[in-house]
Amino acid sequence: MSVINIENAKTNIGQVGFLDVEIDPTMDLFHEIERLKKEKNAIVLAHYYQEPDIQDVADYIGDSLGLAQQAEKTTADMIVFAGVHFMAETAKILNPTKKVVLPDLKAGCSLADSAPADLFRAFKEKHPDHVVISYINCTADIKALSDIICTSSNAQKIIESLPADQKIIFAPDKNLGAWLIKQTGRDMLLWNGACIVHEIFSLEKITRLKIRHPEAKLIAHPECEDPLLRIADFIGSTTQLLKYTQQDDARSYIVATETGILHQMQKSSPDKTFIPAPPDNSCACNDCPYMKLNTLEKLYLCMEYEVPEILMDESLRLAAKKPIDRMLEISRAAGLI
Ligand code: 13P
Ligand code: SF4
Repeated sequence: MSVINIENAKTNIGQVGFLDVEIDPTMDLFHEIERLKKEKNAIVLAHYYQEPDIQDVADYIGDSLGLAQQAEKTTADMIVFAGVHFMAETAKILNPTKKVVLPDLKAGCSLADSAPADLFRAFKEKHPDHVVISYINCTADIKALSDIICTSSNAQKIIESLPADQKIIFAPDKNLGAWLIKQTGRDMLLWNGACIVHEIFSLEKITRLKIRHPEAKLIAHPECEDPLLRIADFIGSTTQLLKYTQQDDARSYIVATETGILHQMQKSSPDKTFIPAPPDNSCACNDCPYMKLNTLEKLYLCMEYEVPEILMDESLRLAAKKPIDRMLEISRAAGLI
C-alpha cells in the first residue's frame, strides 16, 4: 500500500510535479509495475544509464536514438520514460497524443543546461550562414532553434549528409563536437557545453588501470574529453559500446561512460570482465546524478498516479519536431535505422 498526499500531487501536476508519498517496503514493485503496465496500456522505456532494477522492468532499453524511435512508434497510451527530461520531452514531441510521464522531473542534464535558449539564439544570429546541428541532449527550445538533431549514433552521418562547404554550428557538446571534427574533417563552430559525467574521468587512474590490466580494452563514449578518446580502443554511443563488447573477442574492458551500461554488458557477456573507468574523485565508478534520481519506487508512483507529466506548448512542439524529423529521415536514408 502506498500513502499519497494526492492534493499535493494534483496541485503540482505537470512540469513541477512532485509526490509526497510513502511506499510500504514489503510491496513487490516488480509485480505492481507489471500490473500497471497492463491496466494502463503503458510502456516503460529506459536508458542504459538507469539503475539495474529499472532496466529489468523496462519494455525497451536503449540509447537516445533507439528510445526516440520507440517513443515515436508505440501504440501504448502512456509512455513511462525512465531517463532524463530531454528524452521524455523528445518522446512527447514525437508522439503528442500519448501521456508521457517521468519518474522525477528533476532528472535534468548538465549538457542541456549548458545551452540557455536566449544565449544560443544570440550566438546563432551572429552566424546566419551556418546550419545548426544540435545533439539531442538539449531542451525543446534549443531543438526549435536547430536545423537538424543528432545523437552519438548518427552524428557523423548527419554531418556528412551536408555539402562539404556548408558551414556548421554544433551544439551543445564541445567534446562530441571536437571528436566529430576529427572524424569528418569538417571545421564546425562548437558551443561550449559538456557532460559532467564524461568530463570527470581521471586519465591518470585509467592509465594505471591499463597497466594493471594490459589485456583490457578501453572503450569510451564520445562525450569524453580528447586525451581519453586518444587512448581508447573503441569509441561509440551506448548501444555501439554494448554491441562492440558482444561482438569483439577481448575478455575484459575498461568502460569510460556512465556505469549503468555495465548491467547490460555483464548480462549479455557473463564470462567477460567489465571495469568501470574511475572518475577524478574518491568514487570507484561514475554515476550520472540526474539519471540516478529515478528509482523503482518513483517509477511505480508515476505509473500509479500518472504524474509528473511532460506537457508542452504546441507551437514549441512543432518547431522542435522539424529537426528531429530531419534526423530520422537522414538516419533512415543512411540505413542506420
Ligand atoms: P547515448 O545513449 O545516445 O549514447 O547517449 C548518452 C548520454 O549521455 C545520454 O544522456
Ligand atoms: Fe546529461 Fe551526461 Fe547525465 Fe547524459 S550522462 S544525462 S549527457 S549529464
